[in-house]
Amino acid sequence: MARVPVKLVSWDEIVEWSRGLAERIRESGYKPTIIIAVARGGYVPARLLCDFLGVENLVSIQSQHWTEAAKMAERAIIKFPYKLDLRGHKALLVDDIVDTGDTLMLARDYVLREWRPDELRIAVLQWISSVAKFKPDYYYIEVKEWVWFQYPWTRLEDTMQFIKRMVEETYKETGKREWTYKEIVEKFKEWYGIDVGETYYRDALRMLVEKGVLKVEGEKYIYTP
Ligand code: ADE
Repeated sequence: MARVPVKLVSWDEIVEWSRGLAERIRESGYKPTIIIAVARGGYVPARLLCDFLGVENLVSIQSQHWTEAAKMAERAIIKFPYKLDLRGHKALLVDDIVDTGDTLMLARDYVLREWRPDELRIAVLQWISSVAKFKPDYYYIEVKEWVWFQYPWTRLEDTMQFIKRMVEETYKETGKREWTYKEIVEKFKEWYGIDVGETYYRDALRMLVEKGVLKVEGEKYIYTP
């Protein structure tokens, strides 16, 4: 049994889900004239929706979580605010997932207030209905129990963070600092219930060494708390 519920999502699934999402939008009769990708997770689905819906206009907005050092409270912010005039446009705001929905709600409010499209609807591949603060206009999959979806565009970033968390927590629980490559891969599969393949493990380990989280000594990786 994995410690963290993770589902590995393939590129093929992304294309299939995006095609299905496009079909729902088309069936509803909504014909967006511009798509707005929420960076970074919305980029790939937004580009595929442009293709499947025949939309040429694509812009983006970066909305992300921000941890205030003083408060340690997570808040969403628009990272690079800029002005656009979308009057006369029917817009579609696209993201990969509605989890809590905070970053997407912020992007929606910002676009409505600052860019003023005639209409704005929201489309996502996945909607975690048990934790989300709102329901998007269009979604392809309703997720009832929270899972971390390991999308193909964050595979290296996630693998790195997963390994980091695994060695940190193992150190706290047992004091273990030395790992072989084989041990890391085996424990990774146990902890997360997925296998991302050798290239990703090797690249993630190289980055953790660069960041100083791990040190290489001969055949071993040493965790340096
Ligand atoms: N981004 C925010 N929530 C997520 C989740 N549950 N899975 C993957 N990416 C996410």
